[in-house]
Parts: sequence; C-alpha cells; structure tokens
Amino acid sequence: MRNILITGGAGFIGSHLVRLMVNKYPQYKIVNLDLLTYAGNLENLRDVEKCPNYRFIKGDICDYELVASLIKNHNIDSVIHLAAESHVDRSIVDPFSFARTNVMGTLTLLQAAKNIWKERDEKFAGNLFYHVSTDEVYGSLEAEGTFFTEDTKYDPHSPYSASKASSDHFVRAYHDTYGLPVVISNCSNNYGSYQFPEKLIPLFINNIVNNKPLPVYGKGENVRDWLYVQDHASAIDLIFHKGHNGETYNIGGFNEWKNIDLIKVIIKTVDKLLGREAGSSEKLITYVTDRAGHDLRYAIDSSKLHNELGWSPSLQFEEGIEKTVKWYLENKDWMDRVTSGDYLKYYREMYGHDTY
Ligand code: NAD
Ligand code: DAU
Repeated sequence: MRNILITGGAGFIGSHLVRLMVNKYPQYKIVNLDLLTYAGNLENLRDVEKCPNYRFIKGDICDYELVASLIKNHNIDSVIHLAAESHVDRSIVDPFSFARTNVMGTLTLLQAAKNIWKERDEKFAGNLFYHVSTDEVYGSLEAEGTFFTEDTKYDPHSPYSASKASSDHFVRAYHDTYGLPVVISNCSNNYGSYQFPEKLIPLFINNIVNNKPLPVYGKGENVRDWLYVQDHASAIDLIFHKGHNGETYNIGGFNEWKNIDLIKVIIKTVDKLLGREAGSSEKLITYVTDRAGHDLRYAIDSSKLHNELGWSPSLQFEEGIEKTVKWYLENKDWMDRVTSGDYLKYYREMYGHDTY
C-alpha cells in the first residue's frame, strides 16, 4: 500500500505515468496535483478519472499550504515530481516562470514533504521523494560516441535546463542536509501520444497534416536521443520501487537522430498514412533562425539503469514513431482542441465546470 502524490500528472509524461500507476497498482492511492497550465489537460486522463484509487487536485506546487495539506490529509508517503515548465523556447522568452515553477515549486514540495514526514518519523521510514529530471542539465555533447553518464558534470545552457539543474541540486541538498530519501532520474527526449504540439514531433505532424511550413532550426543538424514515453513511465515505475536512496539514474534509448533525418522519417510516415505521394511533404521543410544557445547533441548512457535494475526500452523507434503518428492522426479532435484553447470549453461540457 502506498499513497503517492504525482505532480504534473495532467501533462504529457505525467499522464502516461498516472495511467500506468493507477492501472497497475489498484491497492495504491494516486493523488495527481496539477495546475492545468496550457500544457496540462484532463482529457489526457479520461480513461482513469473514475478509478477509485485516483484523485485529481487542481493546484500549484508553489502553494506551500496546499501541498502540505495534501501530504497530511491524504497520508502521502511518496512524491513523484514531474510538474514543470518544460519547453526550452518558452524559457528563452519567459525565464522567470521557469525559475518559479521548476526551482521554487520543487523547493516548496521538498520543504513540505520534509516537514510533514519528519513529524511522522524522524528517519523518514517508508518515504521517498522522486524527482523527474532531464538530460539537458548535462549541457551539450560534441563528438559522436560520447554519452552523458550519471557522473557527467552539470553544464546547463538554457533557462529551462538551468532551472532543472537547480531543482536537481535542491533535491540532493535535502538528501544530504536533512536525510530526505530521494531518487533523481534524468531522461532524454520523449515522444508519444498526448504531447503538447509545441514540441518538435507533434508540431511537425500537425503541420504536415495541415500543409503548413515545418520550421527547422539552424541546419537541422542537432542530435536528440528519442525514447517512447511509455518506456520512460516504465523506467520511473521501476526506479520508484527498486532505485537506491540518494541515487541518480539516466534514462535513454540509445536512439540518436539528427533533427533533419528524424523530420524526414516523420514526413514519410505521415505521407504514407495519409495516402500522399511518398516524401511529397518534404516541400514544407523551412530552415529558420537557430534557437538561441541551441545544444548540439544529447545522448544518454542508461547502462546503470539496465545493469543495476534490469530496465530496457520495449519499443523499436520505427514501431514507436508509427504508433505515435497514427495516434495524432486518429485524435485530430484532441489536437484541434489543444491548439485552439477550446479544451477549456471541452472541460465545461464534459465536467460542468472548467476548474476543480
Ligand atoms: P508538460 O509540459 O507536458 O507537463 C507539465 C505539467 O506540469 C502540466 O500538466 C502542467 O499543467 C503542470 N504544471 C506546470 N506548472 C505547474 C505548477 N506550478 N503546479 C502544478 N502543476 C504544474 O511536461 P512533460 O514533457 O510531461 O515533462 C514532465 C517532466 O519531465 C518535467 O519535469 C520535465 O522537465 C521532465 N522531462 C521531460 C522530457 C520530455 O521529453 N518531455 C524529458 C525528460 C524530462
Ligand atoms: O532532452 C530532454 C528534453 O527534451 C526535455 O527536458 C524537454 O522538456 C523537452 O522539451 C525536450 O527538449 P528539446 O528542446 O530537445 O525538444 P524540442 O521538441 O523543443 O526540440 C527538439 C529538437 O528540434 C531541438 O533540437 C530543437 C528542434 N526544433 C524544435 C522545434 C519546436 C526545431 O528544429 N523546430 C521546432 O519548431
């Protein structure tokens, strides 16, 4: 029996994790705390919202009183923390929101968990604060054949990655200073269903469908290491249950793609599924000004997770990307709603109100 507070559970990765935990562990209570920013959407969790072991709370991780009362009233013993501002381009325009949510929000959760759990047991028996982080904290790799390991020095470049690096440091500080049981995982780029279409893959699928330009930053030569989102959720599940206190685990699929090559795979897949002439949508590729401070290459070495806990990704990329493209094509309503902002109206129709 566990009572777990998952933050950011209405977002992309969070919704996959909530679904996995609610279905796999009917004996656990899962409390999902999410502010429902533009990136959070209760429609992502429609299939589990009536499960007896699931509760949704609309609220801000920066609100100490709220977080503390949730931990107390739901007898929360563990936190899996995903809530964040997550898009690099937005962080360039509005870095303060990233410092607020990612740094102050994480600190608020740590402080509330530490204070309430300590009242229950001096030694934090049965408690865990699991912080979900990113490979971007490690900076950028140059050469092929080098990888981020858990020992790579932090070297964040964007306001987003700086805020995530800072939150990771706070988590470790609470472990070292107060003895709070913690684990951190740093994952590579995720892809799959329910991702807000500001990120490369859903944005480009949507633009191809609508014959809109595909804005490739710089020369399209940056490299990312792509992991199917459900494999990230399965890694979090494993680390939550079997990870060692105070440890960090890198999560990645050894699946590097140069942006322009990945974009061509997406085009090929969408064209095929829409019955268009192969590669005909390549004409939509439009090279645009590069992202400021654009990291060249991310590549994760996840051998610690594989060797110590036995995790491996379940899906080959070709299969994962085809499933993903199909999902967006079959869920055009979802895409239209999240891009138009109509999902607030959708909440009202579905639930009778738009806030919880
Ligand atoms: P997302 O942007 O899709 O979702 C973030 C969620 O957090 C949303 O539901 C949003 O409403 C919620 N949220 C934002 N501010 C909040 C606040 N103040 N209080 C409560 N809830 C708030 O993000 P994602 O892509 O699912 O990423 C989830 C986590 O995983 C983040 O911490 C991110 O840094 C990390 N991560 C993401 C990736 C990736 O490829 N997307 C890779 C590695 C790590
Ligand atoms: O590595 C993990 C990170 O992956 C997560 O921590 C972040 O939350 C997540 O957003 C993602 O960050 P990226 O910046 O790598 O993802 P994004 O989808 O924004 O961009 C992927 C690559 O594609 C990157 O090199 C920038 C490029 N790009 C992106 C967009 C949105 C384009 O060329 N054009 C675009 O329009």
